[in-house]
Amino acid sequence: MVAVTDAFDVLVLGAGSGGYACALRAAQLGLSVGLVERDRLGGTCLHVGCIPTKALLHAGEIADAARDAADFGVRAQLDGIDMPGVNAYKDKVVARLFKGLTGLIASRGITVIEGEGTLVGPHEVRVGETGYTGRHLVLATGSAARSLPGLEVDGERVLTSEHALALDRVPASVVVLGGGVIGCEFASVWRSFGAEVTILEALPRLVPTEDEASSAALQRAFRKRGIRALTSTPFESVSRTESGVVVRTQGGESLEADLLLVAVGRGPVTAGLGFEDQGITLDRGFVRVDDRLRTGVAEVYAVGDIVAGPQLAHRGFAQGIFVAEQIAGLDPASIDDLGIPRVTYSHPEVASVGLTEQAARERYGEVETLVYDLGGNGKSQILGTQGFVKLIRHPDGPVVGLHLVGDRVGELIGEAQLIYGWEAVPDDVAPLVHAHPTQNEALGEAFLALAGKPLHAHS
Ligand code: NAI
Repeated sequence: MVAVTDAFDVLVLGAGSGGYACALRAAQLGLSVGLVERDRLGGTCLHVGCIPTKALLHAGEIADAARDAADFGVRAQLDGIDMPGVNAYKDKVVARLFKGLTGLIASRGITVIEGEGTLVGPHEVRVGETGYTGRHLVLATGSAARSLPGLEVDGERVLTSEHALALDRVPASVVVLGGGVIGCEFASVWRSFGAEVTILEALPRLVPTEDEASSAALQRAFRKRGIRALTSTPFESVSRTESGVVVRTQGGESLEADLLLVAVGRGPVTAGLGFEDQGITLDRGFVRVDDRLRTGVAEVYAVGDIVAGPQLAHRGFAQGIFVAEQIAGLDPASIDDLGIPRVTYSHPEVASVGLTEQAARERYGEVETLVYDLGGNGKSQILGTQGFVKLIRHPDGPVVGLHLVGDRVGELIGEAQLIYGWEAVPDDVAPLVHAHPTQNEALGEAFLALAGKPLHAHS
C-alpha cells in the first residue's frame, strides 16, 4: 500500500546544482517545495566534480610554486605529495560547503526526501513505499561518467574521474583518455604532482569545443610542462598487466602506465526512472525541452545535465532559478547557452564565452579578431604566465566571442561575460579604466587595441 502525501507546489527530483537551485528559489518565492535525493545534497558538483577537482588543482598549483620557487629567488624544496594530506584538505572544503548547503536548504523550509525517486504518475514520484506529488515537477537527475563500448571501468586501474578523486597515491604514470575538460584538468593536476602523463584525444586538438587558438596555446603549454598529448589518436583497447595497464591506440601505438583515466564525456541519468512511461520524450538519453525548459508534459520541467547543452554547474543554477521563477509566474528571460562562461581550470587555464572564431565565421561570414598577448601584461609577467585574450567581433557590431588562456584567467571571465551579454562594442569598453597591474587589465588593453588605440601592444 503506497501512502500519498499532500501535494507540494514544486517537487524536485535530484538535489544537484540544478535541482537545489530550483528548490531554493521556489522556496524564496513562497512555494512549498519537496526535494528528492538518493545520495547527498549538492550532487556531482559539490561531491565528485567542480569543488573537489578544483581543490586538487589548487594543491597542484602549490606544488608547482614550490618546485619553481628558485625562479623567484625563494629557497624552497618540493619534497613530495602527501596524497592523504591533499585529500584531507579537499574533503574539508567539501564538508564545509556541504554543511552550509544543508543548513541553507533547511532554513528555507524545504522538505528533503531521502531515497531514490521514480516517476509513477505525471506529477507523482515514489520513494520507497511513499508517493509524493507536486503541482509542478522538476526533473534534475544529472549526469554520470560515460565509457566506450567494450571499455570496462574497474575502479582500480581503469578509472573515471570519481575514482581518480578518491586515489590515495600519486600514480607514477597515467594515460588520460579524452582531451576534453576533465581529461585536461586531471592531466594538469597529475603532472603538477609529478606523474608522467599522456593524453589520447580522437579529435585533432585538446579542448576541441574551444577556439582553435586556445587549444593550440594549451597544447604548447602542456608540451612545455612535459605532458604528452596525442591528438587525432582514437583509443583502441586496454589490457591490465600485473602492475598497470597497456593502452593501444588505433594508430597501433602501445602505451604502458599505472592507470587509465576514462574522460570521454558524461551522459544524462534518465534511464529506469519512469520518465518515458509518463510521456516525457528522451533524445539520446537527454530530456527534450523547449526554451522555457518545459518537457511537453504539462507542468513538468527539466534542468541541468539531463538537458542537452553545456554540462556546467552554473548552467544548472541558472536553469533551476529560471524554472522556479517560471512556476511562480515571473516570466524570466530565456537562458542563452552561449552566454554561459566556460572555464577549464588547468595550468594554464582556458576560459571563454560566446562564439569561437570558426562558429562566428559560419554565422556572420566576415568577422574581426584581435589577439592581445599576455606578454604585454605586467601582472602576468610577474606571475610568470603566458597566454592571450582573443576578441571576436561582428563586423561593425558587438563582440560575440571572448577567449582567454593563462594562469588565473578563469577569474576574468566575469567581465568577458558582461561584455558578451550586454553586446558591447569596442568603444563601450575601451574608456573603462582597468586597475594596474592586474591580469584584468589585459581585457582593457585588448579593447583599447580593438578600438584602434592600442597602449602596451605592438601594432
Ligand atoms: P568532454 O566531452 O569535454 O571531452 C571528452 C573528450 O573525449 C572529447 O574531446 C572527445 O573527442 C574525446 N574522446 C571521445 N571518445 C574518444 C576515443 N575513443 N578516443 C580518444 N578520445 C575520445 O567530456 P569530459 O571531459 O569527460 O567532461 C564531461 C563534462 O563535464 C563536460 O561537459 C564538461 O563541460 C563537464 N566538466 C566541466 C568542468 C569545468 O567546467 N571546469 C570540469 C569537468 C567537467
